[in-house]
Amino acid sequence: LQVDASNGAGRPIPETLFGIFFEEINHAGAGGLWAELVSNRGFEAGGQNIPSNIWPWSIVGDHSPIYVATDRSSCFERNKIALRMDVLCDSQGCPSGGVGVYNPGYWGMNIQEGKKYKVALYVRSTGDIDLSVSLTSSNGSRTLASEKITASASDVSKWTKKEVTLEAKGTDPSARLQLTTTKKGSIWIDQVSAMPVDTYKGHGFRNDLFQMMVDIKPRFIRFPGGCFVEGEWLSNALRWKETVGPWEERPGHFGDVWKYWTDDGLGHYEFFQLAEDIGAAPIWVFNNGISHNDEVETASIMPFVQEALDGIEFARGDANSTWGSVRAKMGRQGPFELKYVAIGNEDCGKTYYRGNYIVFYDAIKKAYPDIKIISNCDGSSHPLDHPADYYDFHIYTSASNLFSMYHQFDRTSRNGPKAFVSEYAVTGKDAGTGSLLASLGEAAFLIGLEKNSDVVEMASYAPLFVNTNDRRWNPDAIVFNSSHLYGTPSYWVQRFFAESSGATLLTSTLKGNSSSLVASAISWKNNGKDYIRLKAVNFGATSVNMKVLVTGLDPNVMKVSGSKKTVLTSTNVMDENSFSQPEKVVPHESLLEMAEEDLTVVLPPHSFSSFDLLK
Ligand code: AHR
Repeated sequence: LQVDASNGAGRPIPETLFGIFFEEINHAGAGGLWAELVSNRGFEAGGQNIPSNIWPWSIVGDHSPIYVATDRSSCFERNKIALRMDVLCDSQGCPSGGVGVYNPGYWGMNIQEGKKYKVALYVRSTGDIDLSVSLTSSNGSRTLASEKITASASDVSKWTKKEVTLEAKGTDPSARLQLTTTKKGSIWIDQVSAMPVDTYKGHGFRNDLFQMMVDIKPRFIRFPGGCFVEGEWLSNALRWKETVGPWEERPGHFGDVWKYWTDDGLGHYEFFQLAEDIGAAPIWVFNNGISHNDEVETASIMPFVQEALDGIEFARGDANSTWGSVRAKMGRQGPFELKYVAIGNEDCGKTYYRGNYIVFYDAIKKAYPDIKIISNCDGSSHPLDHPADYYDFHIYTSASNLFSMYHQFDRTSRNGPKAFVSEYAVTGKDAGTGSLLASLGEAAFLIGLEKNSDVVEMASYAPLFVNTNDRRWNPDAIVFNSSHLYGTPSYWVQRFFAESSGATLLTSTLKGNSSSLVASAISWKNNGKDYIRLKAVNFGATSVNMKVLVTGLDPNVMKVSGSKKTVLTSTNVMDENSFSQPEKVVPHESLLEMAEEDLTVVLPPHSFSSFDLLK
């Protein structure tokens, strides 16, 4: 590998090159990054008709002297369903723990000793109330924390918000929330939330999952989907206006592509907050009047365009604007920095895509000339027939295909809009549920993107998260349940590229006749020091000795320790990480001992290696 690191050599890599794509899929948000512990907190998931299914809520005990039903008496206009409990026993006749309902959260709540949990709920009753709010083990036998909510009939004759903070006296990753009483009478409950007090900056993001995102150093975040934005049918597609305002007023919705209900606690506002918290530029994908199965024709598209403009105003408008004022009321006076939007997702072939796109494009550019617009149509092999700042490119394929797509953008015209590779991954049998093999194909593809970063400005792996209790797509970069998580090899590959965005791409030439090797070199500054990173994928089954010649390095400096080698490999190319072996396939770092400016490095079979040299 010959690398030119002489002063002034190379070309800048876009600041935005590597980022993340967050889609509400696999319970990435609801039951994942969004730390809300209660699932179906407003009892709306069963639909707006009554009686309705209250799942996953359930009655405590098998034959409790209690009658539970839903009615439409909520004080919240957009989510009228509430829970009514008729308690048929009193302190003499009720079981000792009382009667009531419990919520198991998303396959169990992770309750940790010493941590605090804030429970809020709305309640109404015809008499006095004496409600125990408890966190218990999954069968209710062990109480981890409990507080009472008591009030007189006059206090709760109308809907009233009550809040308690519970401090856990024990740990259980599959706990549940119980609401119980021994007071005879009728009591209504609605909008029950249980939030850990300890979330990132109190913004509601589960800390461990949040940190995994930050560690990739993403420069952008594309959200909230994906197919999640489109819906199978428009009637079920995400509407951003239903996801803003006080959490208890949000109706929630059933995402019919990934087939689960979201309470939409992680809404339009929270996504912008998330982007800011992880230091990434937000890229909002909105519905363009097209779902998987139905489309709005271009002549009728204006209301959808207005909805998109309103969504941009929500983020960027001043606090006196119609939608900026909604944001301001939610606690954020100043605007969020929104510079990119994508018109739809994977809709290029649809009947009305082009027509609708032009109407959206013109309206957005007129109101916000600086906003960069992303088209769904692939412009990598032929020019687009419509204006765009970027075109979206998605690829899911086998490991060997993706490896050879290292060259994908080599011949792309240098004159058109730039590429946004917003979804890429190895899928199918090569991938298992996240194999080393998959990650090597991806590493080679990313090296190709880095080399073509004059025409590819952004790239993100997909999907980012999976809660293993509801795997809707496979594989995914970060795997979790209520209490544990790990990164797949694909996740770790992305960490090798954390320094690339905004770095300098050095000219590098790989000589020899191997068709299973790809390599690249970048340089960047950190704490006033200059670093060079060489990266190489050995996709083959035999070890390779690679001689590296770097021009422009001071051999004396090279001898200084601080240079390091990082290798991702494993004994079997199909090896994966798991909850029991979360670090089976992770990068291993070691110091690089160098005596010469020419060095020979060993690339193990089926490996991805990087070599950081102090310049
Ligand atoms: O990443 C999973 C899905 O793949 C996305 O929702 C969609 O855009 C693509 O088909």
